[in-house]
Amino acid sequence: MAMQGSVLALGKCLACLEFMLFPVWRGIRASSGVAGGWSQGWGRCLRWEPDGPDQGARFPVFDYPIWLVLCRGGHATIREVCQRGRGVVRLPTEMLSIKLPQLFNIHQVPKVFREDSIISGYRHPRSSALDCVLSSFQMNNETVNIWTHFLPTWYFLWRFCVLCSTLNFLTDSYTWPLLVYMLLICIYPFTSSCAHTFSTMSPESRHICYFFDYGALSLYSLGCAISYGHYVMPDCWLSSWLHQHFVPIAVGNTLLCTGLSCYSRFLELQFPQRSKVLRTGAFIIPFIFDTIPLFYRIFLCCRGSCGPSDALSSHCYHVLFAFLTCFLFTAHLPERLAPGRFDYFGHSHQLFHVSAVVGTHFQMEGVIADMVSRRAWLLSHGAAPSFLGTVGAFAISLILNLGIIAVFSAPLLWKPRRGAGPPARECKEQ
Ligand SMILES: *[C@@H]1O[C@H](CO)[C@@H](O)[C@H](O)[C@H]1NC(C)=O
Ligand SMILES: [Zn+2]
Repeated sequence: MAMQGSVLALGKCLACLEFMLFPVWRGIRASSGVAGGWSQGWGRCLRWEPDGPDQGARFPVFDYPIWLVLCRGGHATIREVCQRGRGVVRLPTEMLSIKLPQLFNIHQVPKVFREDSIISGYRHPRSSALDCVLSSFQMNNETVNIWTHFLPTWYFLWRFCVLCSTLNFLTDSYTWPLLVYMLLICIYPFTSSCAHTFSTMSPESRHICYFFDYGALSLYSLGCAISYGHYVMPDCWLSSWLHQHFVPIAVGNTLLCTGLSCYSRFLELQFPQRSKVLRTGAFIIPFIFDTIPLFYRIFLCCRGSCGPSDALSSHCYHVLFAFLTCFLFTAHLPERLAPGRFDYFGHSHQLFHVSAVVGTHFQMEGVIADMVSRRAWLLSHGAAPSFLGTVGAFAISLILNLGIIAVFSAPLLWKPRRGAGPPARECKEQ
């Protein structure tokens, strides 16, 4: 109470200094919440308006501990400041330095948030949505993960827009596989960067965020299958059994992939090894399947019967980066060699993001090159894409995958605090 009074006085004295104030972190024990927290969240940035009519009504909300810094000197300081008047007020330096959210180390966060060999830089496990967004501008263990997929989203969107202006996606059915593919390579990095941003709101949100991340990745594998099935198929496989069933099998693969990878999260705490194998397998299966036509073309090329296309070199770079991506995902290098050294920069997940995006870039170039150069040949051999085989397959797969994610998320949302499977149980742990 006394403090609030002095704050009020101070507020009036400093009212001439019109600027924004940010709430600060209370520390881990200071509040009644789980483990400290933000003073009212960032949402309540206040602007000082000295002569506003409702001035009195507005001041009582100043319960931010930033004022503790100011009030540390007590009434004396405030009185002095008031006597010396507006013109000579000098702000304490602490006041001007905006305090960023406190970060934690691995032992301070619940088990479910922990990452092998990442020791520090953890955000608060119950951040608000706004904290999460703001934390992407602060250096923590996820910042680079967020940006390495957020910026590429804009790159792919830009490429998509350029294609929209040169191709006729609406009426030219030959371009539909590319349309679906371009949509999906914009969606998957965006979903991933959102997942990394909002995963620290709660243990439940962490699981749900990653469910969406996996769903987007497996839909991306469908995008690959649709574009490969229509543009990349080797000449001799046209109208074969595989060619005719390529997209339906890929739709099935997305369901398997999403289902297995979401399920693997439930095993994570009890059987980390098994969970990792399951999740890796869940992603490798669809990508190996999608790449079969490409492997065969590369194989044919090695035997000396290459077509006159420059697409194959792009495809080869993509395959190299795909292997690198897989390696980084499973090996946890380099942070495994020096735990704690790569908490902010250079841990395997960041390299994995970068390698995935570079691989996707080459893949896109290869797909576009094949599409342009093989158009006449493919259309004359009766391989025109159908609506159902492209946009239809995408829509069906999207709905089914969202259904799977809903099934896995439901127990987390409905009974967040009572044992609803291993992940939910974990949220009691502090
Ligand atoms: C970063 O920290 C969060 C908790 O704030 C944790 O859930 C996540 O796994 C960590 N990420 C990496 C890549 O270490
Ligand atoms: Zn990621």
